[in-house]
Amino acid sequence: MSPKRVAILLSGGGSNMLALLDCMTGDHPARACLVLSNNPDSGGLKRAAARGVPVAAVDSRPFKGDRPQFEAALMQPLLEAKPDILCLAGFMRVLTPGFVDQWHGRMLNIHPSLLPKFKGLHTHSRAIEADETDHGCTVHEVTSALDDGPILGQARLKILPGESAENLAARVLKFEHQLYPAVLRRFSGGDKRLVSLA
Ligand code: GRF
Repeated sequence: MSPKRVAILLSGGGSNMLALLDCMTGDHPARACLVLSNNPDSGGLKRAAARGVPVAAVDSRPFKGDRPQFEAALMQPLLEAKPDILCLAGFMRVLTPGFVDQWHGRMLNIHPSLLPKFKGLHTHSRAIEADETDHGCTVHEVTSALDDGPILGQARLKILPGESAENLAARVLKFEHQLYPAVLRRFSGGDKRLVSLA
């Protein structure tokens, strides 16, 4: 069977994107076909291009909040690259149901919390402020509700006494780099069983 084609969408530095690229070698059942950003200046685009992966940018700023128009533009490079799977990896635009529904069951996201806890932003400081003992990250299928959808994998760690949000974020990010590749490997082989890392 030919490998699944994966498009990775990002907005920033792309450390998760690199972890995904690094895993898609050898007998892995997926290969990257595109790295796509809403930010033409994102470091992730440069890092992907340096790896020889096709890249594209659709600058979200000129669309001034017109999400359907932005998403129509975003679809063009995707239609050309023909991905089987989309991986959101720090893609900081909220997608409308009109876009999400077209990729139903084929779009993944990584979120830096143990969903369903702490949807949205500032997850690390919110977990500390809530006196949580555990924190972590989640890979889930994307549905039209923000940071929702079937959970495919979670990595869990203990919050240290007095830990800063920055330190916690750095520790969670290392887990993200293990979790996302592990979930993508299973998912691209058609296996949706939960991946648990601790
Ligand atoms: C990660 O923390 C991810 O969980 C969140 O955005 C961040 C992206 O980081 N969705 P990077 O660009 O992959 O380094």
